[in-house]
Amino acid sequence: MKTGYKNSKLPVFRRVEDLLGRMTRDEKLAQLHLIMNPLEEYEESKRMIRENGVGSFLLYRPVLHLKELNELQRIAAKESRLGIPVLHGRDVIHGFRTIFPIPLGLAATWDKAAIEKSCAIAAKEAMSAGVHWTFAPMVDIARDPRWGRIAESFGEDPYLCSILAAAAVFGIQGKTAKDLAGPEHILACAKHYIGYGAAEGGRDYNTAEISDNTLRNVYLPPFQAAIKAGAATVMAAFHDLNGEPVSGSRYLCTGLLKEECGFEGFIVSDAGSVYNMINQRVARDKSNAGRIAFNAGVDMEMVEGGSCFRNYLGEWIDKGVVSEERLDDAVGRILAVKFRAGLFENPYIDTGSAKRVFFTGYNRGQAKKIAAQSIVLLKNDRDALPLPVKLQKIAVVGPLADKRRALLGSWVLDQKEEDTQTISEAVARACPGAGVTTVSDLLQDDLFIRIKEADAVIAAVGEYHRRSGEHNNVSSLKLAAGQEELIERAALFGKPLVVVVFAGRPLDLSRISRYADALLYAWHPGSLGAAALADILFGKVNPQARCPVSFPSSTGQVPLHYSHKSWGKRKRPPRYLDSPTSPLYPFGYGLSYTRFSYSAIKATPSKIKPREKVTISAKVTNTGTRAGVETVQCYIQDCLTSLTRPARELKGFQKVRLKPGESKKVAFRLGFDELSFVGLDRVRKVEPGTFKAWIGGDSMAGLECEFEVIA
Ligand code: GLC
Repeated sequence: MKTGYKNSKLPVFRRVEDLLGRMTRDEKLAQLHLIMNPLEEYEESKRMIRENGVGSFLLYRPVLHLKELNELQRIAAKESRLGIPVLHGRDVIHGFRTIFPIPLGLAATWDKAAIEKSCAIAAKEAMSAGVHWTFAPMVDIARDPRWGRIAESFGEDPYLCSILAAAAVFGIQGKTAKDLAGPEHILACAKHYIGYGAAEGGRDYNTAEISDNTLRNVYLPPFQAAIKAGAATVMAAFHDLNGEPVSGSRYLCTGLLKEECGFEGFIVSDAGSVYNMINQRVARDKSNAGRIAFNAGVDMEMVEGGSCFRNYLGEWIDKGVVSEERLDDAVGRILAVKFRAGLFENPYIDTGSAKRVFFTGYNRGQAKKIAAQSIVLLKNDRDALPLPVKLQKIAVVGPLADKRRALLGSWVLDQKEEDTQTISEAVARACPGAGVTTVSDLLQDDLFIRIKEADAVIAAVGEYHRRSGEHNNVSSLKLAAGQEELIERAALFGKPLVVVVFAGRPLDLSRISRYADALLYAWHPGSLGAAALADILFGKVNPQARCPVSFPSSTGQVPLHYSHKSWGKRKRPPRYLDSPTSPLYPFGYGLSYTRFSYSAIKATPSKIKPREKVTISAKVTNTGTRAGVETVQCYIQDCLTSLTRPARELKGFQKVRLKPGESKKVAFRLGFDELSFVGLDRVRKVEPGTFKAWIGGDSMAGLECEFEVIA
């Protein structure tokens, strides 16, 4: 019978207590250390493990080094004094070998089951390659499309992001302790805490200013949802918020996250975000950077630039500036996560499992289904879509027509490009009888001849994968040079013109939307994205996606989101002289090949007490000619409040499948969680008074009712 911390029958806190009691100072400091790419200095990594152990490695291309990774674990288990296993981390953001749509595209599904499924498949594939911990989900609220990492977010809305954040954690970690310790789930990391998406100017890593009240009502809820779903770790962001580097803020890391939100996992810094405090001019050197971050509440340092924890905290402990209790708190959190992950019992990779779980037929089927659910139909004049499969000549034009890698998005590391069909290949496969010509070079001289000869034109435009993602920000949301002109010229030939945009952000579609007969937004849809698009183009699948972000009419509108406050000047709303004020396509918007109508909205009962629930219901009818899925959305307005609140807030959504002519009553139960907000006193409350509620197909829904909250 194994005793002490090696006894898996003991509760985790007892195992942590026992192990901590056996560890030397240096062994404890070693657990705070996350080293990038251990295989580069393989012998040094082995030495470090033997000497005092290592907290974690960030893996590069793990699938190629399964034996070496197992050897590192063997050394940890058999040749280090206490046998503490190493945690292997990696960015598995929207797929490992089977790539799903980018997170912004996943958010466009408005389907928590789809998010959970895609994350579960990614976790299983990653686990088979030796990954124990992914740095996902990213749950940053993103309202500035200039910011490259909006691609990695679930969009602009706290309610939608919170629902999807929890779904992602469940997919990655499973829902029970047994799941998490099992062979199909890995540890999640909610990131980047907090307010990273509010970077000034949309410039990644830049400073952000967010009032404490907005932080608590807008940016914190998705992290709270991820923690409630059991997220084992949280990543502290690079930027400075309200005058403090997040990685050095005791208020944010300890006060708000650990004490107020009750986070019991561990906080890992972003890559070098501790060391970066030297450049942010709040730390004189690595030693002080380590002291500041560790005392702020960061538990593990993802080292880049130089180690600030492992090499220097010992001195601060000797001086009494960092306490032994704080050291034991951090190490205890890390050990608890390793115990929860089952690492002490199962540290080794089953080197044969990768072949069994990678890119299976099931995984491909799910990737295609979810990609189809993510593609938003923004325009479909004269029912230009779906295209008839009996077309004779199809011209597929534009820079994305024949690309593979670009369809996968900016944050993929372990895919095989040859797994990915191009748009042109997928169209040809969907229409075997048609002659498909592909012209991806905008300067090709026969481009317009091909268009003139075609029965239909599919223009694949937008962004390559490297135009979004970390550090890849843009100052203009216009399509890259030549693409708008291509679409404007193509429209002159009067052929059915279907424009498909691939991008990591909502772009300014104001010009091309005038020329396209039909307009689809496919984000970067993943390994099976082209096949999914073909199913939509030719009517095998009826699009159901909805915008998880507002689409601006111009870059100048940014930052832009639907849940704006009510302005004071009733007759003079905020406006531009040179541009529309409203978005081109609003949050929650998306079309279908059928149509839906709403009626009979009501609130039952019409009066409730602050802790009671009200049901908002309406009838939804499929008034079109084919079955379809409607994403029914419920928004509220708290009509009179002690501080300014959004004019509309999403507080519920349901996906409803309806046959032609079929109607369904859809109901939303709203209670304290939905009707409350955090006041300036940092207390969550429901204030008595009148509320408005809307039910409809997007954030501009007009079907309205009222109810009262009585004191
Ligand atoms: C990067 C990113 C973070 C990622 C980490 C490890 O800089 O900010 O999202 O998880 O480093 O790759």
